[in-house]
Amino acid sequence: MVRSAMIAALVAAFVSTVSAQTSTECQPLNETCSPDPALSTTHTWNLSSSSQLDTTAWSITNGVMNYTEDALGFTINKKMDSPTIRSNFYIFWGRMEYHVRAAPGHGVISSVVLESDDLDEVDWEWVGSEGMHVQSNWFGKGQTIANTGVTHNLTSNATLDFHNYTTWWDSDKLEWWYDGTLLRTVTYEDATNSSGTWYPQTPVTIRMGIWPGGDPSQPEGRIIWAGGEIDYNAGPYTMYVSQILAQDFSTGKEYNYTNHSGDWQSIAIVPGNSTIEKELNKVHLSTAQKWDRMSEGSRIAIIVVASAVVGTGAIVFLFCCIRQRRIGKREWNIQNNKWVEERTEMMNMQAEWRQKGYVEMK
Ligand SMILES: *[C@@H]1O[C@H](CO)[C@@H](O)[C@H](O)[C@H]1NC(C)=O
Ligand SMILES: *[C@@H]1O[C@H](CO)[C@@H](O)[C@H](O)[C@H]1NC(C)=O
Ligand SMILES: *[C@@H]1O[C@H](CO)[C@@H](O)[C@H](O)[C@H]1NC(C)=O
Ligand SMILES: *[C@@H]1O[C@H](CO)[C@@H](O)[C@H](O)[C@H]1NC(C)=O
Ligand SMILES: *[C@@H]1O[C@H](CO)[C@@H](O)[C@H](O)[C@H]1NC(C)=O
Ligand SMILES: *[C@@H]1O[C@H](CO)[C@@H](O)[C@H](O)[C@H]1NC(C)=O
Ligand SMILES: *[C@@H]1O[C@H](CO)[C@@H](O)[C@H](O)[C@H]1NC(C)=O
Ligand SMILES: *[C@@H]1O[C@H](CO)[C@@H](O)[C@H](O)[C@H]1NC(C)=O
Ligand SMILES: *[C@@H]1O[C@H](CO)[C@@H](O)[C@H](O)[C@H]1NC(C)=O
Ligand SMILES: *[C@@H]1O[C@H](CO)[C@@H](O)[C@H](O)[C@H]1NC(C)=O
Repeated sequence: MVRSAMIAALVAAFVSTVSAQTSTECQPLNETCSPDPALSTTHTWNLSSSSQLDTTAWSITNGVMNYTEDALGFTINKKMDSPTIRSNFYIFWGRMEYHVRAAPGHGVISSVVLESDDLDEVDWEWVGSEGMHVQSNWFGKGQTIANTGVTHNLTSNATLDFHNYTTWWDSDKLEWWYDGTLLRTVTYEDATNSSGTWYPQTPVTIRMGIWPGGDPSQPEGRIIWAGGEIDYNAGPYTMYVSQILAQDFSTGKEYNYTNHSGDWQSIAIVPGNSTIEKELNKVHLSTAQKWDRMSEGSRIAIIVVASAVVGTGAIVFLFCCIRQRRIGKREWNIQNNKWVEERTEMMNMQAEWRQKGYVEMK
């Protein structure tokens, strides 16, 4: 029993070093970037403490996750909290279903966003003090043509129950749906002015999170937009997501920017099987389950080898942890630079705070 626990720990340590990888920062309008991994299928995630997000498909970009029996929670407990996640996969045109119960509170913003490498963006945002409203917004290449943000009236309080917020996105039009009712349509033509087209049209990741838009450190205009200053003492404030559906309208292995135009015609769909899809379809077995399913012979062999390795293993483990921390710091810097460049206000705020926190920590 003790030995098998030791082996499990070793295996876990090994697996965690293997799966730690960084997405390289790259602006495809200026640089040649490595292709984006495709989802290439339709997948539903039902979220709860017993059905947590898989790390193959999702990464935590800030803070900690707060699962309940029927949802994933994103909580602001105190200043500087703004837990967020992003998908490791991209969809190239698609349908997204978010089943969300927004967080209440002045200055509290719940958000679910589609965002591409060149900063095309399609948003749903909830201001916590305006339970009877939801906002829709979009951006092309990080630019705003006038009046892209619209506030919609809802038939019930978004902070009290889960509702189905659906985004439809194809090459002709963008749609925002609320519990089966179409709230808004933006066409490719709507998003085009005399200086070009600003229609979101490059492969996107999914990002979700909560952030204190009404933090006193924020610009006044943003605080007003966020419904006023946040009262941290009246928290915690939690946004819940019970279910996510992602449908990728394209099929392939990866999506590749073939030039710097950011036009959808320039995105090549690299044929082949999606790695993420394969992983999602795998039956996930825990280390313990794998151990239980092994033959007696394999177990003995593993115990013999593992016992011999345990001593060296401890040294290797120590070394890899120190190394991991260094890599972690490098990743942190890459991520931080990335966020500073991005338009998304939530991420800008996180980046600012990270920078401040980093300076204070030193
Ligand atoms: C591309 O690079 C140029 C020159 O460095 C810079 O001015 C511009 O802002 C960059 N554009 C984007 C979208 O990053
Ligand atoms: C996810 O939840 C929905 C609605 O509650 C249910 O219909 C569906 O069967 C669930 N799917 C899985 C894989 O648990
Ligand atoms: C989880 O959410 C609950 C309810 O909002 C809150 O009391 C708790 O502090 C949160 N936990 C974390 C780790 O954020
Ligand atoms: C919506 O619900 C919140 C509690 O989550 C409550 O404080 C607020 O007054 C409600 N808003 C409306 C307009 O009923
Ligand atoms: C068109 O929209 C872009 C993006 O916001 C903006 O930079 C540009 O000034 C607009 N052009 C005109 C003529 O309105
Ligand atoms: C929401 O309701 C208000 C007041 O009834 C109305 O003035 C406004 O036009 C409505 N907004 C939308 C987007 O329908
Ligand atoms: C959510 O809304 C969309 C758009 O109306 C609809 O197609 C979809 O079936 C809804 N999902 C569920 C689980 O009801
Ligand atoms: C992606 O496009 C670039 C630029 O056209 C090209 O050099 C590269 O080989 C392509 N990568 C793949 C995997 O197709
Ligand atoms: C980018 O590639 C697309 C598809 O090949 C092509 O139609 C377009 O003219 C190219 N744009 C530029 C600026 O090279
Ligand atoms: C993709 O997966 C299918 C079914 O699993 C397999 O038959 C096919 O060979 C795979 N294609 C590639 C390019 O790996």
